[in-house]
Amino acid sequence: MKTRRSVVMGCGSYLPQKIVTNEELSERVDTTDAWIVARTGIHERRIAAEGQFTSHLATEAANRALAAAGIAAEDIDLIVLATATPDSTFPASATRVQAAIGAHSAFAFDVQAVCAGFVYALNVADNFLRLGQAERALVIGAETFSRILDWEDRGTCVLFGDGAGAVVLESQEGAGGNTDRGVLSCHLHSDGRFYDLLYVDGGPSSTQTAGHLKMSGQEVFKHAVSKLASVLEEALEATGIGPEDVDWFVPHQANRRIIEAMARKLGITGEKVILTVGRHANTSAASIPLALDEAVIDRRIKRGDIVLLEAIGGGLSWGAAVIRW
Ligand code: UT7
Repeated sequence: MKTRRSVVMGCGSYLPQKIVTNEELSERVDTTDAWIVARTGIHERRIAAEGQFTSHLATEAANRALAAAGIAAEDIDLIVLATATPDSTFPASATRVQAAIGAHSAFAFDVQAVCAGFVYALNVADNFLRLGQAERALVIGAETFSRILDWEDRGTCVLFGDGAGAVVLESQEGAGGNTDRGVLSCHLHSDGRFYDLLYVDGGPSSTQTAGHLKMSGQEVFKHAVSKLASVLEEALEATGIGPEDVDWFVPHQANRRIIEAMARKLGITGEKVILTVGRHANTSAASIPLALDEAVIDRRIKRGDIVLLEAIGGGLSWGAAVIRW
């Protein structure tokens, strides 16, 4: 049965210039390059410059995605920005991006699902497009986690980085099966009983401060492995796509060990896994679109390929999506 599909027309990304290596961090906190690499796969991360906000990173990524798509900002009618580190408590940072890129016909808002934010934002935009409330959407993941880290806590400050990525979606007609191009399915879950495993100890309503990130790493790790395995299975089953049909696995980039465990579980071989955690660290909602853009630029991901996404983060919130590129 014919159906609307949200087809990816282009993507773009942006990383701040400043690179901070594990060596440099080992001068600030009691850690070593060897520990960070062995436990996470992270070698370095980017950190936003003073005065460089989440919306600035998002704007760069959005402009690059529009250029790659060959679509003018005026033709965008929806902007969904996934971020847990907005410029201000309100308004939505998405409206800053809207003004900066000149997408004056769009409606724009932020989505907050922390590290799962990009999958959530993609699903939200896909629903608007499929319902016909918008024709062309910018879906952005952008973060400046460096601003909410406790730089004295070695258990968290070595794990995160700053960056942004974006995709442009356009509503097109599909035949309704899994050979269509576009977003084929999205699957979202949350379980607020695990709120305290990964949170920020501040906020406008509670402390009137931005707060700092707190994480029970081992606990989150265990949940990540089981919940991601189950949502990936759900996504493949819903689309009738087998692991052998997946061309590219583009997971949230939190920890190389989690990513490799998921790939192994699905039987997806290493060369099909897009891995950027080594150079980007965990950029939360930005990590998937950053990885997508890298693999499109270096011509690994091509039109028609099946791309499988997954992410989990604070909430806990998690999800997966299948896209035919
Ligand atoms: O994106 C949102 C989702 N987040 C995630 O998916 C993160 C999930 N969790 C993880 O990736 C891992 O749990 C971490 C990378 C955070 C930690 O790795 P781990 O293998 O679970 O280590 P651990 O927390 O069990 O710590 C092992 C040891 C501890 O020392 P003791 O108690 O064994 O003496 C820590 O104090 O490593 C110590 N440690 C460090 N040592 C050197 C913790 N952080 C550091 C550090 N450098 N930076």
